[in-house]
Amino acid sequence: MKVISEQEVLRQFTVVDAIKTIERCFIDFDRGRIMQWPRSVTTLPDGLNQNVFALMPAYLGGERLYGAKIMSFFPDNLEKSLPTHLGQIILLSSETGETKALIDANSVTWLRTAAVSAVATDKLAKKEASTLSLIGAGNQAASHLQAIRHVRPITRVVVFDLDKQRQHDFVERAKSDFPGLTILGAETLTEATENIDIICTLTPSMHPFLTGDMVSAGAHINAIGSFSPEKRELTTDLISAAKVFVDDYEAALKESGDILIPVLEGSFDEDSIAGSLSELVTSKVTGRSTENDITIFDAVGLAVEDLYCASAIYQKMTRMVK
Ligand SMILES: NC(=O)c1ccc[n+]([C@@H]2O[C@H](COP(=O)([O-])OP(=O)(O)OC[C@H]3O[C@@H](n4cnc5c(N)ncnc54)[C@H](O)[C@@H]3O)[C@@H](O)[C@H]2O)c1
Repeated sequence: MKVISEQEVLRQFTVVDAIKTIERCFIDFDRGRIMQWPRSVTTLPDGLNQNVFALMPAYLGGERLYGAKIMSFFPDNLEKSLPTHLGQIILLSSETGETKALIDANSVTWLRTAAVSAVATDKLAKKEASTLSLIGAGNQAASHLQAIRHVRPITRVVVFDLDKQRQHDFVERAKSDFPGLTILGAETLTEATENIDIICTLTPSMHPFLTGDMVSAGAHINAIGSFSPEKRELTTDLISAAKVFVDDYEAALKESGDILIPVLEGSFDEDSIAGSLSELVTSKVTGRSTENDITIFDAVGLAVEDLYCASAIYQKMTRMVK
């Protein structure tokens, strides 16, 4: 069994590799070559009602591999200087059931989530989109900044976090990593979203904060933070006014508070979802119809993304050894 650490994942698998891999993943998902089972997301019975254990299984037919991502979400890890998401991906042979690899899940999640947003942004944002807003200056903000730059000519980035120290640290790091970009911290959400072409919401917020009047005509939004029915980042008026796409219909209608709460309120019809990422990458649906459309890509995260990227990393590293 091969054990692949966070450092090895980040050395062997770039953001560009992740974007190409995710595009192939959604083509294979559309064709039924890979599949996933419903994931189990449980709050630990530790009296804190916040620490989450997730088991995300998937099957990669063509690769003769299957397995699962086993992931923890511990929000208080932020205060302990630990990542909030930690775990492993186990890859098994579908011919023998042998364990082939154990791969660090935090780094794969970091890369694949931003790659998914980049693929969606490429299909949905205006071609000339050059301004990016990152709401939530955590781990995902860093990978999203790298990935979105590969699909649109970003020149200006505005960052907003409720924790001003974290916002400041992120902005300073990003300025030194990307000296060619203008990178600013915002005092308010309004300042962070004014005249912005692409907005990424990357927070664990339980309450919606991005409203329709904050978003410019023609903007594209990647709503990434919410992955359970009670969590949401977007208000109902914004969802109702936009052309809404999801990573997967079944997962979104089971887990996305951004979609489910407006549906329960009777303000948004699930049949109004304009398409899934598989449908976008295989051109079964079209993205924006006009330069003024507001498009939303709402993602809860899928096991096929994790297993597909893990398999690509495993195949690359075993080829290197031969
Ligand atoms: N959809 C997916 O596939 C997917 C994948 C990975 C992570 N996520 C989710 O995305 C979110 C971000 O992940 P991360 O690893 O960057 O988390 P993180 O804990 O590293 O960072 C989250 C940041 O958001 C900030 N924040 C919290 N509430 C806020 C608010 N209302 N406004 C502005 N900032 C706020 C926090 O201060 C923190 O800096 C989490 O909720 C995570 O569960 C989703």
